[in-house]
Amino acid sequence: MNRFNTTNDLSILGIETSCDETGAAVYNTINGLQSYALYSQIALHASTGGVIPEVASRSQLEKIRPVIDEAIAQSSIPLSDIDVIAVTHKPGLPGSLLVGVTFAKALAWALNKQLIGINHLEGHVFSSFIEHQVPFPHLCLTASGGHTSLYIVHDFGVYTQLGTTRDDAAGEAFDKIAKLVGLPYPGGPAIEKSAEQVSFNDFFKYPRSTIEGFDFSFSGLKTAVLYDLVNKGWYILKEKKSLIPGINEINQVASSLLVCIADIFIERILKAIKHYPEIKAVTFVGGVACNKYIASRLRDTLAKYNKPLFIPSPRYCTDNGAMIAFVGAYKALQNQYSDLTLDILK
Ligand code: KG4
Ligand code: ZN
Repeated sequence: MNRFNTTNDLSILGIETSCDETGAAVYNTINGLQSYALYSQIALHASTGGVIPEVASRSQLEKIRPVIDEAIAQSSIPLSDIDVIAVTHKPGLPGSLLVGVTFAKALAWALNKQLIGINHLEGHVFSSFIEHQVPFPHLCLTASGGHTSLYIVHDFGVYTQLGTTRDDAAGEAFDKIAKLVGLPYPGGPAIEKSAEQVSFNDFFKYPRSTIEGFDFSFSGLKTAVLYDLVNKGWYILKEKKSLIPGINEINQVASSLLVCIADIFIERILKAIKHYPEIKAVTFVGGVACNKYIASRLRDTLAKYNKPLFIPSPRYCTDNGAMIAFVGAYKALQNQYSDLTLDILK
């Protein structure tokens, strides 16, 4: 469990409030993850079909104290023995980020602890290490509701972005198309369940975007699905109304979308592996990495290239405090501390 081969015994409290999850966890540099607490706002946003920033930040404010209390209680390390407070400070919804950053700064000041501001995406990139020892250099595909990016990860905190989405994120495509056909929020898990009913077949052959380099684009796919629905008489554009005949047709759209996105991921990953033969392994992280179908397609493909695939358990794929505490741990070992001028989005 000693991922860093260190004798420097530090305990880090990680705090995550960048969007609609309130997460806290304690990570020890020698003994690994000590606790995990999470409050998810999914139920709160289900009725509106998406996150309303004001609602999200109010909920963060209500939950931050109980979630941190739970993480500390579970860890059996008293707050007084915590060495470092690590907190997500970018990117994210400003109101939500502000709750975590303000709380972390107050805690660090009042208890005289070190403070570290963490980039949320760096949290996702290194979330695979919570459970696995992943070799360097490796390729990391991060796919969530807000981001879709490909990185080469050279060492703890050292990574190069190969490509990113030029418009929507993959999770956003799932969420928006789910809404279009009347599936619940969040769209990703609903699309997966729906696609399973029709055995993950590709009915409608939506276009696979081909972009030079390693970037992604999902807004064209969203438009292609929309116009395919319109052409089939399954959606009235003017009234923004779904006329999709029944559950079987919903399943067919969901399945075609899922296969299309899996194909896009595979094409990008294989291109990167061929371009950078030094890559020793691949990680798939972020909320979309909860998807079992995409995971099995990636696993089958990468086995042919002798590249091991590491995917965190679902609780570490979606937003959480453990990945923030983990990044906080290596930054603490590298003496990369922030001061009380730490601000959101900077
Ligand atoms: O990482 P995350 O919790 O939040 C962001 O940082 O955005 O990811 C949430 C996203 C949502 O778009 C959700 O639809 C997607 O992850 N997601 C999935 C699955 N579970 C969650 N997408 C595809 N399949 C899933 N099983
Ligand atoms: Zn995230």
